[in-house]
Amino acid sequence: MERRKVHVTGWIPAAVEAALAESFELVGAPQGADGVLSLLTTTVDAAYLDGAGPQLRVVANYGVGYNNVDVGAATERGVVVANTPDVLTRATAELALALTLSLLRRVTEGDRLIRRHGSWEFALDFMLGESLDGKTFGVVGPGKIGRETGRLAEAFGARAVFAGRHDPLPEFLAAADVVSVHVPLSAGTRHLIDAGALAAMRPTAVLVNTSRGPVVDEAALVAALRDGAIAGAALDVFEYEPHVSEELLSLENVVLCPHLGSATAETRHAMGMLAVDALRAVLLEGRRPANAV
Ligand code: 8YV
Repeated sequence: MERRKVHVTGWIPAAVEAALAESFELVGAPQGADGVLSLLTTTVDAAYLDGAGPQLRVVANYGVGYNNVDVGAATERGVVVANTPDVLTRATAELALALTLSLLRRVTEGDRLIRRHGSWEFALDFMLGESLDGKTFGVVGPGKIGRETGRLAEAFGARAVFAGRHDPLPEFLAAADVVSVHVPLSAGTRHLIDAGALAAMRPTAVLVNTSRGPVVDEAALVAALRDGAIAGAALDVFEYEPHVSEELLSLENVVLCPHLGSATAETRHAMGMLAVDALRAVLLEGRRPANAV
């Protein structure tokens, strides 16, 4: 029997590619493919789906977030969309904590000072930071990653509090020392953290974003940081990724990370194997994948 065709939209780990190649013929373009393994940098919209053709059955997105895929357009065309949840929960929560602690304890700021041969000497009042211990750690988006991040923050002595979709955000933001964002990007969450939300935060509070850049209004964030409306920000994602606002680069109270939430070899491997499972479920077993969205 002819093998089903799968198109992969970017680089994937060799072991994942080998697993795919066991079951499928890998093709260099989406046209004529039965399945697509998409990375978040590929926009899979109506035009993409139509370009692939009516034989397309499944889009497996290499990530838990799937804002790059138009699920409505896929569903209309009978194309199943799957994502890769769970296996990246710990890695992403870990990065949120790494960013939080780097910001509060001024790790990257100190690193920059040393690298530019800035003068320093141990002193009792030098580069004092803040402890996470005793802080209120506000998680916006109590999904799996948000809850795990809260749990890890509690291990550092913080009190984790959670805001869901229906909770009044201004009150929540006003009560938090750290605001960590964990919502998926959708029309409803675009600029969820806007000028108003930032103004609701305490001037001593910090913002951490490991979700999607456009959830935060980056221009409003720059203004809030510049004007001292909030004390700092730690960002793994950016509104116009991979572009980062010039102003953010010049601020000392900002930690910047190039979208590394799930970036460990083990996690990326596990994510890839979940995507392979989804392609196999639809194309070889004729069933709905466990991680259909
Ligand atoms: C992925 C991510 O690595 O899973 C997500 O939603 O943001 C990242 O962890 C990325 O989607 C890879 O395509």
